[in-house]
Amino acid sequence: MTLEQATAPGTGGATPVAVPNDLESFWMPFTANRAFKARPRLVSRAQDMHYYTPDGRAILDGCAGLWCVNPGHNRPSIVEAIRASAAEMDYGPTFQYGHPAAFQLASRIAALAPGDLDHVFFCNSGSEAVDTALKIALAYHNVTGNAGRTRLIGRERAYHGVGFGGISVGGIVTNRRTFGTLLTGVDHLPTTYDRAHQAFTKGEPDYGAHFADELERIVALHDPSTIAAVIVEPMAGSTGVLPPPKGYLKKLREICDKHAILLIFDEVITGYGRLGHAFAAERYGVVPDIITFAKGVTAGAVPMGGAIVRKGIYEAFMKGPEHVIELFHGYTYSAHPLACAAGLATLDLYAAEGLFERARALEPMFADAAMALRDKPGVLDIRTVGLTAAFDIAPREGKPGLRAFEALERGFHEEGVMFRTSGDALVVTPPLIISEAQVGELMEKIGRLIEKTQ
Ligand SMILES: Cc1ncc(COP(=O)(O)O)c(C=O)c1O
Repeated sequence: MTLEQATAPGTGGATPVAVPNDLESFWMPFTANRAFKARPRLVSRAQDMHYYTPDGRAILDGCAGLWCVNPGHNRPSIVEAIRASAAEMDYGPTFQYGHPAAFQLASRIAALAPGDLDHVFFCNSGSEAVDTALKIALAYHNVTGNAGRTRLIGRERAYHGVGFGGISVGGIVTNRRTFGTLLTGVDHLPTTYDRAHQAFTKGEPDYGAHFADELERIVALHDPSTIAAVIVEPMAGSTGVLPPPKGYLKKLREICDKHAILLIFDEVITGYGRLGHAFAAERYGVVPDIITFAKGVTAGAVPMGGAIVRKGIYEAFMKGPEHVIELFHGYTYSAHPLACAAGLATLDLYAAEGLFERARALEPMFADAAMALRDKPGVLDIRTVGLTAAFDIAPREGKPGLRAFEALERGFHEEGVMFRTSGDALVVTPPLIISEAQVGELMEKIGRLIEKTQ
């Protein structure tokens, strides 16, 4: 299909160009390219809770873009901040030089973070944030005289982006198969999900804190003196919304403390309101040593990610001659001015509209509306936490993922809704501005799709 066919009759999506204009050249990420190019799902405009197709059809955004547009789309204050920043200074290096917005945003992020996590290292994505956190953990042990601590512990069914570090500690088999084992010295905790004991739980399941005890076994196996860090998503999002069992994260913290292992929370999706707090660490009353963030920090409007570290970690590096670079790490676009401007405006908006509190207040209604679908055909489990829900639907015989993919396609073309899939789970994670009526509309559409694809 050509781009002209895909975007006709509107004008929003296509820019006139002199080269062949089709859908072929773009190798789309994490996408079934051939299916997309046969039946494109194109959007060219967005406002608040909706995307719009090039021909003007409204699509209810049930996944905040990619879990990032937490305050809703194209909010004027964010758009204006980006405009003003671009007009003022296109680019500002942060290697050996600096610009004010970078420092302002770091202070604002640190102020929102729990405990003494008060230093921020900027990068451009969640994957880079994870690699940054893992490297800081390794370097920290190095500078504190524990260079033997090089082992990293992830978890099955974890997603930590696509860098070599992230896929190594990650636990998604398809992501790891080709490259994930290149980083050696990695081990994995078991997943915390056990459908037999947890199905249809709203929020954190009662069952499963004991999965944290596996860390003691892994530590004993490898010896604590070889282990640098444990990295977990407080709520595993990308593999289908797996909230932590009650008490699980506290146990991990205790075991890490006992063995002087750093605990990293990957909050790329749980940060900035998804679970009703600035960070999930706050919801669970557990202070990790490093938090990674991305996505919601700029409402997805400009790429940005980062790692927030505890005071003691930063200070461990601030030794030696003053002219010497303390950490040999960074990205050309670390704290890009556009991203900083978007970040400052986004944090302002969260505060002005009380969006984290709003998500918290809406959670019970959202969970009830999701659970109301439990009797739809083939629903195996529903999980909710914050403004996030996953619906596991029975797969088609011998064709895992097909039913959910059909729901995704039909959702866009027939129901005007966008959501995520993970295997045969339908995952909804709407912007935090969603109204109660829109929660109802979203769940109705999901319910109809479950019926249509039975
Ligand atoms: C927990 C977590 N970590 C890391 C990433 C990777 O982020 P990015 O796609 O920005 O590299 C994601 C993306 O969804 C994520 O959910």
